[in-house]
Amino acid sequence: MNDICYLNGEFLSLADAKISVLDRGFIFGEGLYEVMTAVECNLLHYKNHFKRLRDGAKDMQLEIPFSDSELYCLINEVLARNHFACCSVYLQFTKGPAPRNHFYPSEYVPTLFIMTSPFKMPSCLDVVNAILLKDIRWQKCNVKSTSLYANTWAKTMAKTSGGEEAIFEREGILTEGATSNLFLVYEDRVLTPKENEFILSGVTRELVLEILRRKNINYEETVIPTDSLWRADEVLLTSTTKGVVAVKAINGKPIGNGKNFNLGVEIFEAMKALSFT
Ligand code: PDD
Repeated sequence: MNDICYLNGEFLSLADAKISVLDRGFIFGEGLYEVMTAVECNLLHYKNHFKRLRDGAKDMQLEIPFSDSELYCLINEVLARNHFACCSVYLQFTKGPAPRNHFYPSEYVPTLFIMTSPFKMPSCLDVVNAILLKDIRWQKCNVKSTSLYANTWAKTMAKTSGGEEAIFEREGILTEGATSNLFLVYEDRVLTPKENEFILSGVTRELVLEILRRKNINYEETVIPTDSLWRADEVLLTSTTKGVVAVKAINGKPIGNGKNFNLGVEIFEAMKALSFT
């Protein structure tokens, strides 16, 4: 059986892993998470994921009682017990169970949950349809919080319209996808929304910027008006589980010529090489 997860000091089958109904993650949706990937038990880009987790924990005043190397060892133990060739790793922290009260508890025993799921690395660049939606989220999108109702709603709206992803805009400015960061490709440069409280600082976003630097491709992290979408040659979406994905059409309107995703393919190939080294 390879469904072994870690929960609060124990390695258990997923079906046996239980938390209290008073857990603040369940009661308030107050928690932090990370999604990573592992290939042949090698956890990819984990330093960046741990850094973002710690930034979120600071914001939430959540004391993480583990060092990075302890977290790394726990994840490795889960990986070893499941031995998937390629998998995603989900990690979640909450402040644990406490009497229901909106104030942060002064004392708490955090909940830590880690699970892995088998996952197939895409062999070529995926191309998807997307929709444009008003960004109805809050002003802490930089925190990888488990309160994801706006995101699950947006993803489902995209699926209902025959697409894969929703791209958010806030007052005429593009922010990110419901589960991805956004890149717009033009002839002479690449644009991506700058980091602020309206986007998640994606680990894959940073990886793509590193690839662009290595390839000497001009890029700008900037404020991007929504109508820039319709002039882009390519629109790319990035995330840990999907890598890089090209957008064929948004709200049924083709992006570029709807066929060539040259930079998308180039970034996909470069990412594949980076992921395995
Ligand atoms: N989500 N923006 C949002 C809102 C996201 O949910 C994600 C990823 C990203 C990309 O971040 P990264 O490159 O670090 O994966 C951007 C994950 C995969 C998820 O919720 O499952």
